[in-house]
Amino acid sequence: MHDLAIIGGGPGGYVAAGRAGAAGLSVILFEKNNLGGVCLNEGCIPTKTLLYSAKVLEYTQHADRYGVNVEAPAVDFGAVLKRKEKVVRKLVAGVKAQMKAAGVEVIAAEAEIRGRSGEGFSVVADGQEYVARNLLLCTGSEAVVPPIPGLREGLGGVVVTSREILSLSEQPAELVVIGGGVIGMEFASFFNSIGTKVTVVEMLPKILGPMDDEISAMLQAQYARKGVAFQLGCKVTAVEGDTVVYETPEGETCRVRGDRILVCVGRRARLQGYGLESLGVEYALNPAGRPYGVKVDARMRTSVPGVYAAGDVTGFSMLAHTASREGEVAVNDILGVSDSMRYDAIPGVVYTNPEVAGVGVTEAEALQKGLDVSVLKLPMAFSGRFVAENERGEGACKVIVDNATRTVLGVHMLGNPCSELIHGACLAIEHKLTVKQLQETVFPHPTVSEILRETVSGLR
Ligand code: NAI
Repeated sequence: MHDLAIIGGGPGGYVAAGRAGAAGLSVILFEKNNLGGVCLNEGCIPTKTLLYSAKVLEYTQHADRYGVNVEAPAVDFGAVLKRKEKVVRKLVAGVKAQMKAAGVEVIAAEAEIRGRSGEGFSVVADGQEYVARNLLLCTGSEAVVPPIPGLREGLGGVVVTSREILSLSEQPAELVVIGGGVIGMEFASFFNSIGTKVTVVEMLPKILGPMDDEISAMLQAQYARKGVAFQLGCKVTAVEGDTVVYETPEGETCRVRGDRILVCVGRRARLQGYGLESLGVEYALNPAGRPYGVKVDARMRTSVPGVYAAGDVTGFSMLAHTASREGEVAVNDILGVSDSMRYDAIPGVVYTNPEVAGVGVTEAEALQKGLDVSVLKLPMAFSGRFVAENERGEGACKVIVDNATRTVLGVHMLGNPCSELIHGACLAIEHKLTVKQLQETVFPHPTVSEILRETVSGLR
């Protein structure tokens, strides 16, 4: 019998497996596709590879602004996709090596849970039964394809999800993106940069749902200037072949066509198809009473002792870094190490150009919760390094401070490379740093990171 069986080798599963294996547990990890999960194979990593190619193109197109002449930069779509595959292959091999080093037994097959078996839980893969004392569910999520007439019928043809769009045989001339969330904006950014005509149709009056309103609006304005058409407050009502039909807030019916239609209106936890029901775990329910994930406590324990869940399968905070931390918390519980999951300092990053990054409460949330806060704001131009490196670049840093404790509750940024700076704000929030402590911390100069300290510098 194994100490721990993990189903799913994404950032929740493989990080947990590595940690458990290194701590001396006998671990078995089931993965039916490549190790690394959606994040490494068809999410975070391939998209960042594509977006970096787009960034290089943009830099070269605007090189003259920096006194450098580059003649006719052009994108080679096939070469961009090939590079993406190379990066993915390299990282998958890295995860494989990590599993080996931690003594994790990896089963490259689809696992099916068969419920309890004596002291443990039974999992069958490739006709063989494995029993483990503890079970960690890291089965992830899948793209939602809503029941919009004509949408599902178009899948596999004009309509694509974030998976298929990563391996198109040719660059679309026109792309319609349904859903202006994180995935929608990252693909809109990539295709806009390489010259595709992009239209984003978003149901809400803003892009990037939960991200700070002002920062989202600034990003939208920049992309509108770059040529992306935004149809906000517009609900898609039908897809007719290559045409998306939507209703405007004024009740008008409009149409926009694309060579491809990308549907990215959210993801849902994977709860079916692998015998989960045999365990009898409780589900987390939405207000309509429908299950949206496996219910867990702060130690990632489900309602069945010995069964844990981490990552997208829990149905909330669907981010790779959340999954990895949740996996660690679950393993620590199995090892008897005191640990618990906290969600108030989990950063969100959108890898557009410029990047968006945020952590903690937004101004709108603070208002909604009736929090007594100060909102401090500075344009990124207050950072010398930002000005030196971002000709015509715009950006901002916003810090939300609790008036009673003077601790930082939220930080939201627009401007490169805020994806690489936001962890400073995560530390401040996670460890409840006061503004005074931030002010007394020496930041390297000149760096864009100084913007955080600068933004709070005036607060007494
Ligand atoms: P999302 O929830 O971020 O955005 C979906 C958007 O679709 C929402 O703004 C929603 O209002 C809109 N929508 C829904 N139905 C619609 C309709 N009928 N017509 C028009 N608009 C409609 O979901 P998304 O972008 O698919 O991402 C899925 C998950 O993956 C998220 O949890 C996200 O956090 C995660 N992710 C994170 C990334 C990152 O951290 N950089 C990158 C990619 C994904």
